[in-house]
Amino acid sequence: MIYLKTNEEIELLRENNLLVSKTLAEVGRHIRPGVTTKELDRLAEEFIRSHGAVPAFLGYQGYPASLCISVNEHVVHGIPSDKIVLKEGDIVSVDCGTFMKGFVGDSAYTFAVGEVSEEVRQLMEVTKEALYKGTAQAKAGNRVGDISATVQEYAEKFGYGVVRELEGHGLGRKMHEAPGVPNYGAKGRGPLLKEGMVICIEPMINMGTKSVVFEEDGWTVRTRDRKPAAHYEFAVAVRKNGPDVLTDFSIIEQAIKH
Ligand code: MF3
Ligand code: CO
Repeated sequence: MIYLKTNEEIELLRENNLLVSKTLAEVGRHIRPGVTTKELDRLAEEFIRSHGAVPAFLGYQGYPASLCISVNEHVVHGIPSDKIVLKEGDIVSVDCGTFMKGFVGDSAYTFAVGEVSEEVRQLMEVTKEALYKGTAQAKAGNRVGDISATVQEYAEKFGYGVVRELEGHGLGRKMHEAPGVPNYGAKGRGPLLKEGMVICIEPMINMGTKSVVFEEDGWTVRTRDRKPAAHYEFAVAVRKNGPDVLTDFSIIEQAIKH
């Protein structure tokens, strides 16, 4: 069942995703060599609560933290830990969720720790661009497959691996609603996009093989070849004339500019 949202509901989703964007900006300001992912998680939880929301991930199917923080070969769902210390050259996917006023926010951004290699910089840029190109397809009358195929085609042009095991999703009163939004597929296939649908588009792109494994902790997903992965996520409302992006990366990029 795909829930179509009213304009009022979309504004509540926007409020949540704006708070997620601000939280990611706050986390971004603290990303530097020597910081632990646990410290970033603590900071995010405090920030979210001080803005009248609760962390949507905490307790979700037993998940033990407010953020997913996935470093280098960790693709998504990395559990913050006081043993994971960021170092120069790492890339870090930070995925954040909020819940307030009956709705959920869910967005992610991949940060560089200091200077990263040219190769890694390109992986980040291409993954973000794949998100932007996929998002441009989020228009009433298109199909989910138009988003999926666009993301896949762009990422594969660079020889990257597109993760198959995880996908984007509908977003609303629940974090995961229908439809699923895969990052691979065929144009013209899949559920029809309608005015008022809200979806999360979240490419997970690997520098090497698309193949991933699930770590022993029951959550962390990593690349099989241990090459790095990047991950960005937008919440998007589908409109007649095109996408209405509810996440604001400009806040994050302003915060980490130096
Ligand atoms: N943002 C993730 C997603 O889109 C959700 C994190 S899973 C959780 O699927 F368990 F940490 F909440
Ligand atoms: Co998501």
